[in-house]
Amino acid sequence: MVRGDATKRGALLYLDNCAACHRPDGRGYEGVFQSLAGNPIVEADDALSVVSIVLLGSKTPRTSMTPAQFAMPAFAWRLTDQDAADIVSFIRSSWGNDAKSLEAPKVAALRSSN
Ligand code: HEC
Repeated sequence: MVRGDATKRGALLYLDNCAACHRPDGRGYEGVFQSLAGNPIVEADDALSVVSIVLLGSKTPRTSMTPAQFAMPAFAWRLTDQDAADIVSFIRSSWGNDAKSLEAPKVAALRSSN
């Protein structure tokens, strides 16, 4: 389903927090906002990287070829552990992605290790 399954937990949170940049279909905008569909970081066996990007945010590197810099804000302050787990589980299992979901305690563990 192009927009992801709207009945899944995390779908609405995704639309509220992420879709402005990564788009409802998860494909982002080329060269600006990464595609989450078919993204190896999103689908990695270990969800650690994707959870930390969501909690801490990220910036594209600034290079001479790409002088503009785009940033993703940190979401740690506005998402509960459950929200973050639901969003990450949603993006790991939408738009053809097929990776395991994760539970809130995993997010909590990562948060306390930062
Ligand atoms: C204001 C725009 C914006 C919003 C809102 C946003 N992102 Fe991002 N996101 C970005 C940018 C820009 C990058 C690329 C950063 C980089 O290259 O290091 C990125 C990168 C990512 C990555 C890493 C992809 C990769 O291949 O490196 C993931 C995963 C991700 N975002 C998920 C999310 C999720 C989930 C949300 C909602 C909780 C979200 N983003 C909200 C702009 C945004």
